[in-house]
Amino acid sequence: MSKRLSGRVALVTGAARGIGLAAAKRLAEEGAKVLMSDIDADVLAEAAAGLEAQGLIVQAAVCDVADPQSVAAMVDKAVAAWGRIDILINNAAISDDTPIEQLSDAHWRHVLSINLDSALHVAKAALPYLKQSPSGSIVNIASVQGIRGQPHAMAYATAKGGLVNLTRCMAVDFGPFGIRANAVAPGYIDTRMAEQKLGTPHEHQTDWFQDIYFKYGRMPLRRAGKPQDVAGPILFLASDDSLYVTGTVLVVDGGFTATY
Ligand SMILES: NC(=O)c1ccc[n+]([C@@H]2O[C@H](COP(=O)([O-])OP(=O)(O)OC[C@H]3O[C@@H](n4cnc5c(N)ncnc54)[C@H](O)[C@@H]3O)[C@@H](O)[C@H]2O)c1
Repeated sequence: MSKRLSGRVALVTGAARGIGLAAAKRLAEEGAKVLMSDIDADVLAEAAAGLEAQGLIVQAAVCDVADPQSVAAMVDKAVAAWGRIDILINNAAISDDTPIEQLSDAHWRHVLSINLDSALHVAKAALPYLKQSPSGSIVNIASVQGIRGQPHAMAYATAKGGLVNLTRCMAVDFGPFGIRANAVAPGYIDTRMAEQKLGTPHEHQTDWFQDIYFKYGRMPLRRAGKPQDVAGPILFLASDDSLYVTGTVLVVDGGFTATY
Protein backbone atom coordinates (compact mmCIF):
# COMPACT_ATOMS: atom_id res chain seq x y z
CA MET A 1 0.00 0.00 0.00
CA SER A 2 1.44 3.37 -0.93
CA LYS A 3 2.06 5.77 1.90
CA ARG A 4 0.26 9.08 2.26
CA LEU A 5 3.21 11.22 1.13
CA SER A 6 4.98 8.89 -1.31
CA GLY A 7 6.82 10.82 -4.02
CA ARG A 8 6.59 14.15 -2.20
CA VAL A 9 9.33 16.40 -0.89
CA ALA A 10 8.93 18.26 2.38
CA LEU A 11 10.99 21.05 3.87
CA VAL A 12 10.88 21.41 7.67
CA THR A 13 12.60 24.33 9.44
CA GLY A 14 13.77 24.02 13.03
CA ALA A 15 13.90 20.25 12.55
CA ALA A 16 16.86 19.46 14.83
CA ARG A 17 14.67 18.78 17.86
CA GLY A 18 11.24 19.19 19.43
CA ILE A 19 8.14 19.60 17.29
CA GLY A 20 10.16 20.08 14.07
CA LEU A 21 12.01 16.79 14.54
CA ALA A 22 8.79 14.93 15.38
CA ALA A 23 7.14 16.40 12.26
CA ALA A 24 10.11 15.51 10.02
CA LYS A 25 9.99 11.93 11.30
CA ARG A 26 6.23 11.60 10.82
CA LEU A 27 6.32 13.02 7.27
CA ALA A 28 9.26 10.78 6.34
CA GLU A 29 7.48 7.73 7.79
CA GLU A 30 4.60 8.53 5.41
CA GLY A 31 6.99 8.35 2.45
CA ALA A 32 8.09 11.98 2.03
CA LYS A 33 11.70 12.86 1.33
CA VAL A 34 12.44 15.46 3.99
CA LEU A 35 14.92 18.31 3.98
CA MET A 36 15.54 18.98 7.67
CA SER A 37 16.94 22.44 8.33
CA ASP A 38 18.09 24.17 11.48
CA ILE A 39 20.55 26.79 12.71
CA ASP A 40 22.11 24.31 15.19
CA ALA A 41 24.44 22.29 12.94
CA ASP A 42 25.55 19.65 15.49
CA VAL A 43 22.11 18.78 16.85
CA LEU A 44 20.72 18.79 13.30
CA ALA A 45 23.39 16.37 12.04
CA GLU A 46 22.65 14.00 14.92
CA ALA A 47 18.87 14.21 14.37
CA ALA A 48 19.15 13.59 10.61
CA ALA A 49 21.52 10.66 11.16
CA GLY A 50 19.01 9.22 13.65
CA LEU A 51 16.19 9.29 11.11
CA GLU A 52 18.43 7.93 8.34
CA ALA A 53 19.37 5.04 10.62
CA GLN A 54 15.65 4.21 10.75
CA GLY A 55 15.61 3.92 6.96
CA LEU A 56 13.94 7.28 6.37
CA ILE A 57 14.97 9.52 3.46
CA VAL A 58 16.21 12.84 4.82
CA GLN A 59 18.92 15.40 4.20
CA ALA A 60 20.17 18.14 6.50
CA ALA A 61 20.68 21.82 5.63
CA VAL A 62 22.09 24.29 8.13
CA CYS A 63 20.02 27.45 7.76
CA ASP A 64 19.23 30.61 9.68
CA VAL A 65 15.61 31.31 8.73
CA ALA A 66 16.09 34.99 9.60
CA ASP A 67 18.63 35.32 6.76
CA PRO A 68 17.05 35.36 3.27
CA GLN A 69 20.32 34.24 1.61
CA SER A 70 20.55 31.26 3.93
CA VAL A 71 16.87 30.48 3.18
CA ALA A 72 17.53 30.58 -0.58
CA ALA A 73 20.42 28.13 -0.16
CA MET A 74 18.19 25.76 1.86
CA VAL A 75 15.50 25.76 -0.84
CA ASP A 76 18.18 25.22 -3.52
CA LYS A 77 19.49 22.22 -1.59
CA ALA A 78 16.05 20.55 -1.50
CA VAL A 79 15.52 21.14 -5.21
CA ALA A 80 19.06 19.99 -6.11
CA ALA A 81 18.50 16.78 -4.12
CA TRP A 82 15.02 15.84 -5.24
CA GLY A 83 13.87 18.34 -7.91
CA ARG A 84 10.68 19.53 -6.21
CA ILE A 85 9.03 20.89 -3.05
CA ASP A 86 5.47 19.88 -2.15
CA ILE A 87 5.26 20.57 1.57
CA LEU A 88 6.66 23.41 3.65
CA ILE A 89 6.58 23.36 7.45
CA ASN A 90 7.56 26.76 8.90
CA ASN A 91 8.44 25.65 12.41
CA ALA A 92 11.71 27.32 13.51
CA ALA A 93 11.27 29.90 16.26
CA ILE A 94 12.72 31.20 19.50
CA SER A 95 10.82 31.80 22.73
CA ASP A 96 10.84 35.20 24.34
CA ASP A 97 9.34 36.66 27.52
CA THR A 98 10.99 40.07 27.72
CA PRO A 99 8.88 42.69 29.57
CA ILE A 100 8.30 45.94 27.71
CA GLU A 101 10.68 47.90 29.96
CA GLN A 102 13.59 45.77 28.71
CA LEU A 103 12.33 45.24 25.18
CA SER A 104 14.67 47.18 22.87
CA ASP A 105 13.70 47.86 19.27
CA ALA A 106 16.58 45.61 18.17
CA HIS A 107 15.33 42.73 20.30
CA TRP A 108 11.73 43.19 19.11
CA ARG A 109 12.97 43.05 15.50
CA HIS A 110 15.14 40.00 16.29
CA VAL A 111 12.16 38.01 17.61
CA LEU A 112 9.84 39.08 14.78
CA SER A 113 12.53 38.37 12.22
CA ILE A 114 12.94 34.73 13.34
CA ASN A 115 9.34 34.00 14.35
CA LEU A 116 7.39 35.87 11.65
CA ASP A 117 9.45 37.31 8.78
CA SER A 118 11.06 33.90 8.25
CA ALA A 119 7.76 32.27 7.23
CA LEU A 120 7.32 34.89 4.50
CA HIS A 121 10.91 34.50 3.26
CA VAL A 122 10.81 30.70 3.18
CA ALA A 123 7.40 30.65 1.47
CA LYS A 124 8.58 33.21 -1.10
CA ALA A 125 11.68 31.16 -1.93
CA ALA A 126 9.73 27.88 -2.13
CA LEU A 127 6.71 29.31 -3.98
CA PRO A 128 7.90 28.61 -7.57
CA TYR A 129 8.27 24.92 -6.64
CA LEU A 130 5.06 24.71 -4.58
CA LYS A 131 3.23 26.10 -7.63
CA GLN A 132 4.44 23.14 -9.68
CA SER A 133 3.25 20.62 -7.07
CA PRO A 134 -0.14 18.96 -7.63
CA SER A 135 -0.76 19.21 -3.88
CA GLY A 136 1.27 22.04 -2.37
CA SER A 137 0.76 22.56 1.35
CA ILE A 138 2.23 25.06 3.80
CA VAL A 139 1.88 24.51 7.54
CA ASN A 140 2.95 27.40 9.76
CA ILE A 141 3.58 26.52 13.41
CA ALA A 142 1.96 29.33 15.40
CA SER A 143 0.97 29.08 19.09
CA VAL A 144 -2.00 29.55 21.38
CA GLN A 145 -0.10 32.76 22.22
CA GLY A 146 -0.99 33.91 18.70
CA ILE A 147 -4.67 33.92 19.65
CA ARG A 148 -4.45 34.87 23.35
CA GLY A 149 -2.42 37.42 25.31
CA GLN A 150 0.10 36.21 27.88
CA PRO A 151 2.28 38.17 30.36
CA HIS A 152 5.59 39.49 28.94
CA ALA A 153 4.98 37.88 25.57
CA MET A 154 4.61 41.00 23.44
CA ALA A 155 7.24 40.12 20.85
CA TYR A 156 6.65 36.34 20.75
CA ALA A 157 2.85 36.52 20.84
CA THR A 158 2.70 39.37 18.32
CA ALA A 159 4.87 37.35 15.94
CA LYS A 160 2.62 34.31 16.38
CA GLY A 161 -0.55 36.41 15.94
CA GLY A 162 0.98 37.82 12.77
CA LEU A 163 1.79 34.31 11.62
CA VAL A 164 -1.86 33.29 12.07
CA ASN A 165 -3.03 36.05 9.76
CA LEU A 166 -0.10 35.61 7.37
CA THR A 167 -1.38 32.04 7.05
CA ARG A 168 -4.82 33.30 6.01
CA CYS A 169 -3.24 35.70 3.50
CA MET A 170 -1.14 32.85 2.06
CA ALA A 171 -4.31 30.74 1.74
CA VAL A 172 -6.02 33.52 -0.18
CA ASP A 173 -3.10 34.39 -2.47
CA PHE A 174 -1.81 30.85 -3.08
CA GLY A 175 -5.20 29.07 -3.30
CA PRO A 176 -5.59 29.76 -7.04
CA PHE A 177 -2.32 27.83 -7.57
CA GLY A 178 -3.69 24.84 -5.66
CA ILE A 179 -1.46 25.56 -2.66
CA ARG A 180 -3.08 25.28 0.76
CA ALA A 181 -1.83 27.16 3.83
CA ASN A 182 -2.83 26.36 7.39
CA ALA A 183 -1.50 27.00 10.88
CA VAL A 184 -1.10 24.71 13.86
CA ALA A 185 -1.31 26.44 17.24
CA PRO A 186 0.26 24.28 19.97
CA GLY A 187 -0.35 24.87 23.67
CA TYR A 188 2.05 23.56 26.35
CA ILE A 189 4.34 21.03 24.69
CA ASP A 190 7.27 19.43 26.52
CA THR A 191 10.24 20.52 24.41
CA ARG A 192 13.50 22.37 24.99
CA MET A 193 11.65 25.65 24.27
CA ALA A 194 9.22 24.95 27.11
CA GLU A 195 12.09 24.03 29.42
CA GLN A 196 13.93 27.26 28.63
CA LYS A 197 10.78 29.30 29.16
CA LEU A 198 9.66 27.65 32.37
CA GLY A 199 13.10 27.31 33.93
CA THR A 200 13.63 23.61 34.55
CA PRO A 201 13.15 20.47 32.48
CA HIS A 202 10.53 19.22 34.87
CA GLU A 203 8.53 22.38 35.58
CA HIS A 204 5.41 20.82 34.05
CA GLN A 205 5.68 18.28 36.88
CA THR A 206 5.87 20.88 39.68
CA ASP A 207 3.02 21.26 42.16
CA TRP A 208 2.07 24.80 41.10
CA PHE A 209 1.89 23.86 37.42
CA GLN A 210 0.05 20.62 38.13
CA ASP A 211 -2.42 22.46 40.40
CA ILE A 212 -3.24 25.38 38.12
CA TYR A 213 -3.20 23.64 34.80
CA PHE A 214 -4.16 20.08 35.53
CA LYS A 215 -5.89 19.73 38.93
CA TYR A 216 -8.06 22.87 38.66
CA GLY A 217 -9.01 22.23 35.09
CA ARG A 218 -7.18 24.83 32.99
CA MET A 219 -5.92 21.88 30.93
CA PRO A 220 -8.91 19.62 30.28
CA LEU A 221 -6.75 16.70 29.13
CA ARG A 222 -4.71 17.02 32.37
CA ARG A 223 -1.24 16.78 30.83
CA ALA A 224 1.24 18.78 28.79
CA GLY A 225 1.62 17.80 25.15
CA LYS A 226 4.43 15.85 23.51
CA PRO A 227 6.04 16.76 20.17
CA GLN A 228 4.32 13.68 18.68
CA ASP A 229 0.93 15.15 19.68
CA VAL A 230 1.63 18.02 17.27
CA ALA A 231 3.22 15.93 14.50
CA GLY A 232 -0.07 14.13 13.71
CA PRO A 233 -2.05 17.35 13.12
CA ILE A 234 0.87 18.67 11.00
CA LEU A 235 0.75 15.49 8.89
CA PHE A 236 -3.02 15.86 8.50
CA LEU A 237 -2.66 19.40 7.14
CA ALA A 238 0.32 18.46 4.94
CA SER A 239 -1.46 15.48 3.39
CA ASP A 240 -4.37 14.97 1.00
CA ASP A 241 -6.54 14.09 4.02
CA SER A 242 -7.16 17.85 4.28
CA LEU A 243 -7.43 18.75 0.56
CA TYR A 244 -10.34 21.20 1.10
CA VAL A 245 -8.88 22.76 4.27
CA THR A 246 -7.04 26.05 3.88
CA GLY A 247 -6.66 29.25 5.89
CA THR A 248 -7.47 27.52 9.17
CA VAL A 249 -5.80 27.39 12.57
CA LEU A 250 -5.75 23.95 14.16
CA VAL A 251 -5.35 24.37 17.92
CA VAL A 252 -3.43 21.51 19.58
CA ASP A 253 -3.50 22.41 23.26
CA GLY A 254 -5.19 19.69 25.33
CA GLY A 255 -8.24 21.96 25.59
CA PHE A 256 -6.33 24.87 27.21
CA THR A 257 -8.06 27.57 25.14
CA ALA A 258 -11.45 25.87 25.50
CA THR A 259 -11.61 26.96 29.13
CA TYR A 260 -11.07 30.32 30.91
N1 LIG B 1 6.94 23.97 23.05
C1 LIG B 1 5.83 24.65 23.20
O1 LIG B 1 5.22 24.66 24.28
C2 LIG B 1 5.28 25.45 22.02
C3 LIG B 1 4.02 26.04 22.19
C4 LIG B 1 3.48 26.77 21.14
C5 LIG B 1 4.17 26.90 19.94
N2 LIG B 1 5.40 26.32 19.81
C6 LIG B 1 6.07 26.51 18.52
O2 LIG B 1 6.46 25.26 17.99
C7 LIG B 1 7.61 25.44 17.17
C8 LIG B 1 8.69 24.44 17.60
O3 LIG B 1 9.02 24.71 18.94
P1 LIG B 1 9.71 23.65 19.92
O4 LIG B 1 8.95 23.71 21.21
O5 LIG B 1 9.91 22.39 19.22
O6 LIG B 1 11.08 24.45 20.16
P2 LIG B 1 12.60 23.96 20.23
O7 LIG B 1 13.31 25.12 20.83
O8 LIG B 1 12.70 22.64 20.90
O9 LIG B 1 12.97 23.81 18.69
C9 LIG B 1 13.07 24.94 17.85
C10 LIG B 1 14.14 24.66 16.79
O10 LIG B 1 14.25 25.84 15.97
C11 LIG B 1 15.63 26.10 15.76
N3 LIG B 1 15.86 27.51 15.46
C12 LIG B 1 15.82 28.55 16.32
N4 LIG B 1 16.15 29.68 15.67
C13 LIG B 1 16.40 29.35 14.38
C14 LIG B 1 16.79 30.08 13.24
N5 LIG B 1 17.01 31.41 13.29
N6 LIG B 1 16.93 29.42 12.07
C15 LIG B 1 16.73 28.08 12.01
N7 LIG B 1 16.38 27.34 13.06
C16 LIG B 1 16.21 27.96 14.24
C17 LIG B 1 16.31 25.66 17.05
O11 LIG B 1 17.71 25.43 16.87
C18 LIG B 1 15.52 24.41 17.41
O12 LIG B 1 16.10 23.24 16.86
C19 LIG B 1 8.01 26.89 17.31
O13 LIG B 1 7.48 27.63 16.23
C20 LIG B 1 7.35 27.31 18.61
O14 LIG B 1 7.13 28.70 18.66
C21 LIG B 1 5.97 25.60 20.82
